[in-house]
Amino acid sequence: MPKTLHLEASNSSHIELAAQLLIQGKLVAFPTETVYGLGALAYDENCVENIFKAKNRPSNNPLILHVGNRISAVDLFDFSGSKFEKQFSDRFELLSKFFWPGPLTLVGKKKAFISNTVTSGSPKVAVRFPSHPIALQLLRLVEQPIAAPSANLFTRPSPTSSQHVLLNLDSRIDAVINGGGTQFGIESTVIDIDCETPTILRHGAISLNDLLPLLPNLSANPIGASKDAENASPGLCAKHYSPKIGQIWLANEHELAKAWFSSSGIILRKNTESKLTDGLGKRPEAAGLLRVLPDDPQGCARELFSAFYDMESVGLQTLLVENLLSLAPSTDWAALGDRLLRASAKNPI
Ligand code: TXA
Ligand code: MG
Repeated sequence: MPKTLHLEASNSSHIELAAQLLIQGKLVAFPTETVYGLGALAYDENCVENIFKAKNRPSNNPLILHVGNRISAVDLFDFSGSKFEKQFSDRFELLSKFFWPGPLTLVGKKKAFISNTVTSGSPKVAVRFPSHPIALQLLRLVEQPIAAPSANLFTRPSPTSSQHVLLNLDSRIDAVINGGGTQFGIESTVIDIDCETPTILRHGAISLNDLLPLLPNLSANPIGASKDAENASPGLCAKHYSPKIGQIWLANEHELAKAWFSSSGIILRKNTESKLTDGLGKRPEAAGLLRVLPDDPQGCARELFSAFYDMESVGLQTLLVENLLSLAPSTDWAALGDRLLRASAKNPI
């Protein structure tokens, strides 16, 4: 077991050291604008296997390859080998120019040299050009793609701080770079662009509404869909993003009111908290931990996983999370609805 080195994003020699470690084949967690990633060399079979081991991740759950510019992404995709060559390359041009660098992952036919281990046997590869300055600096120094899943153990919430990374992976990885809280707090949106109808495989930081003007025929997996769903991202299991808490329930306002004075943890939006406080008074200190999220979908998404980790740290039996699923048909809430369904699912399937 390696001792995990703690590095600081503000120290340029630490970033150079992190790049050296990656080049030597080590595992380094680093901040991105979405969540922290667990990086290693994407072209090195051993490194890729070590990522799966460190996370306890099943080998049927492929990894995203991170690149530092658009041209490097072009090198990974086999446009001319695709049945949908024209649509695939047109969509790539459009989306990569509009949304990159940023929280969008594009999936399409891979070049033959990319290993089946990193794509879990799929003929397609997932590629993302992140915008976080530390991720970009690492990519520049390493000069090759970095495979990076979220830096958490399998089924646990994605980390939005280096402390969350250490709660999951301390002594299982070589280093972590502390770059503070992440901007979006939720993972990238994953789209398959190499098929008849482009499809959102995983809802994420960029919503269907953001994408529709560019891709009017875009379709999307239903929220909370498991791997059995048609076109689902191969790694999506029903139970995911889940904190270590006895029971997690999605609760409506009435149910939250009933639990107001109990020892259950509660996560809810500001508006709802104000209504409950008006009716019942402030939640007493002696009751369970309370976390209040911003009212807008972006704010909620940014703080949800962090609230999960706070709840975990106080050792709860029961956590009630405001049920936001009724908002999810509005596509701005889809990613959040998806994560809530998975966090509260009872079993991995
Ligand atoms: O924001 C993010 O995407 C973060 C940061 C670190 O970049 N990464 C991340 O990776 O969330 P991970 O491994 O936790 O999730 C990757 C998602 C999974 O849903 C996986 O199934 C999908 O991307 N994916 C990866 N490769 C794929 C492929 N070849 N075909 C279809 N889906 C793929
Ligand atoms: Mg993940």
